[in-house]
Amino acid sequence: MKQFLHLRNNHVLGVISLILILGSVNVKVAEGRVHSELGQIEYPAINCRKHSASLKDFGGVGDGKTSNTKVFQSAISKLSQYASDGGATLIVPPGKWLTGPFNLTSHFTLFLQKDAVILASQNELEWPHLAVLPSYGRGRDAPGGRFSSLIFGTNLTDVVITGQNGTIDGQGSYWWDKFHKNQLTLTRPYMIEIMYSDQIQISDLTLVNSPTWFVHPIYSSNIIVKGLTILAPVDSPNTDGINPDSCTNTRIEDCYIVSGDDCISAKSGWDEYGIKFGRPTQHLVIRRVTCISPDSAMVALGSEMSGGIEDVRVEDLTAINTESAVRIKTAVGRGGFVKNIFVRGLNLNTMKYVFWMTGSYGQHPDSHYDPKALPTITGINFKDVVAKNVTYSAKLEGISNDPFTGICISNVTIEVSALKKKKLQWNCTDVAGVTNNVTPPPCALLPQKDKTDCAFPNDKLPIEAVQFKTCSL
Ligand SMILES: *[C@@H]1O[C@H](CO)[C@@H](O)[C@H](O)[C@H]1NC(C)=O
Ligand SMILES: *[C@@H]1O[C@H](CO)[C@@H](O)[C@H](O)[C@H]1NC(C)=O
Ligand SMILES: *[C@@H]1O[C@H](CO)[C@@H](O)[C@H](O)[C@H]1NC(C)=O
Ligand SMILES: *[C@@H]1O[C@H](CO)[C@@H](O)[C@H](O)[C@H]1NC(C)=O
Ligand SMILES: *[C@@H]1O[C@H](CO)[C@@H](O)[C@H](O)[C@H]1NC(C)=O
Ligand SMILES: *[C@@H]1O[C@H](CO)[C@@H](O)[C@H](O)[C@H]1NC(C)=O
Repeated sequence: MKQFLHLRNNHVLGVISLILILGSVNVKVAEGRVHSELGQIEYPAINCRKHSASLKDFGGVGDGKTSNTKVFQSAISKLSQYASDGGATLIVPPGKWLTGPFNLTSHFTLFLQKDAVILASQNELEWPHLAVLPSYGRGRDAPGGRFSSLIFGTNLTDVVITGQNGTIDGQGSYWWDKFHKNQLTLTRPYMIEIMYSDQIQISDLTLVNSPTWFVHPIYSSNIIVKGLTILAPVDSPNTDGINPDSCTNTRIEDCYIVSGDDCISAKSGWDEYGIKFGRPTQHLVIRRVTCISPDSAMVALGSEMSGGIEDVRVEDLTAINTESAVRIKTAVGRGGFVKNIFVRGLNLNTMKYVFWMTGSYGQHPDSHYDPKALPTITGINFKDVVAKNVTYSAKLEGISNDPFTGICISNVTIEVSALKKKKLQWNCTDVAGVTNNVTPPPCALLPQKDKTDCAFPNDKLPIEAVQFKTCSL
């Protein structure tokens, strides 16, 4: 870090310290490029920033013990003044930076250098409480409010969280223990949550041990999540990797996820609250992701899907020792829809179910859900799937009087595990659709139809066209 600051004006740093002591908001920040003796750092981002400063400039201590909560908060609050002047980057240098939650600002980049580790505080007093999400009506762990996520942003435009594969460690064991002991009175914090925002990039980081979900963009649009390594013990509770929730235009790519819950889960609110809020997750691309999650799905659609999920394109995914591949989870009372889902190119090894749809997921926020609110599940397309060491090829369970329709499955080769070979490979109820070139042979509800090629869209979504600029520090 010494080298990094070396070429800056030490006098300026002195002034910054003095100003910080005096509590003025008038911090001077390096303009333009800061060169280090290590050379210039270049990184891809949706937008570059004119100003940059290091956490150290604001008095941060990276010893893993000193709390930097106030340092992060005041640094970002001060850098927010550059939003209308080219934006600012806050650099987190190598070291262990213990902190409670902090809020992001617009036209802002949080950059974690190589060997930078942000450590989430395990002191609950550091965690502000937030109101429940309107599309959920209550918290997932407890009826009341919820803890703020570690990194939170709301009503923002143009935010980048990136780095040289620096680490954010949620130190989740504290929260997992409380969850297991039934001691939570508020819902556990997410690691990163961005709400009501537009133009978000989260990339090139290692995220470990989130208290619950890792990355949760909600009520937002134009989101790119790329190059994340996400790691949690496979038995940790609800450590979903990436959960786009009531979001439009999201691109998730090149991630490696090991977790205790779904690696990726598209959502859009819960029962009557989600129906009323009525905001779908749509135009979602997921590609080149590897998942390990023995008790959960590689990609889940739901179970909270009451605002609807549509136009999801899943391509070139690998799962190893994962319970299921692309799973639909819903229930009577959810309402909403899951439609126009396109999946191609799955490479699966060791899996309980290759195809899994569940219409009886249950789990309601309260007893006020509408039993007449039936979900519409239609237009679900899969092609080019290779699976090995599988227990069941498919469990497709629709809802009686509300069948899941328009299911199309083509060009699929499933190698069933010889050791535990189950007789009923395709267990289908209340579903309708067609198949072609699928082994083992599907159920009677999904008859073979020659020449069927479950089409994947040819057009590209606008979020796929977004290009990164090369930025430098
Ligand atoms: C972040 O913003 C939310 C509301 O916008 C607020 O409730 C919360 O206290 C803020 N968190 C911090 C750490 O300042
Ligand atoms: C954030 O945006 C939402 C939706 O537009 C709005 O309801 C809310 O009042 C805004 N919050 C703030 C703090 O501006
Ligand atoms: C990032 O760090 C993780 C954890 O150390 C490692 O497994 C991964 O390969 C790294 N990724 C890159 C692109 O360097
Ligand atoms: C069938 O799927 C395999 C594996 O994804 C792929 O290599 C092959 O090209 C596909 N065949 C056709 C006819 O599309
Ligand atoms: C096959 O799957 C079983 C679990 O069903 C697992 O124990 C075994 O290691 C897997 N074998 C291979 C070769 O991956
Ligand atoms: C097939 O699925 C139905 C509906 O989920 C279930 O009730 C039944 O037990 C399953 N049959 C077998 C043999 O697993």
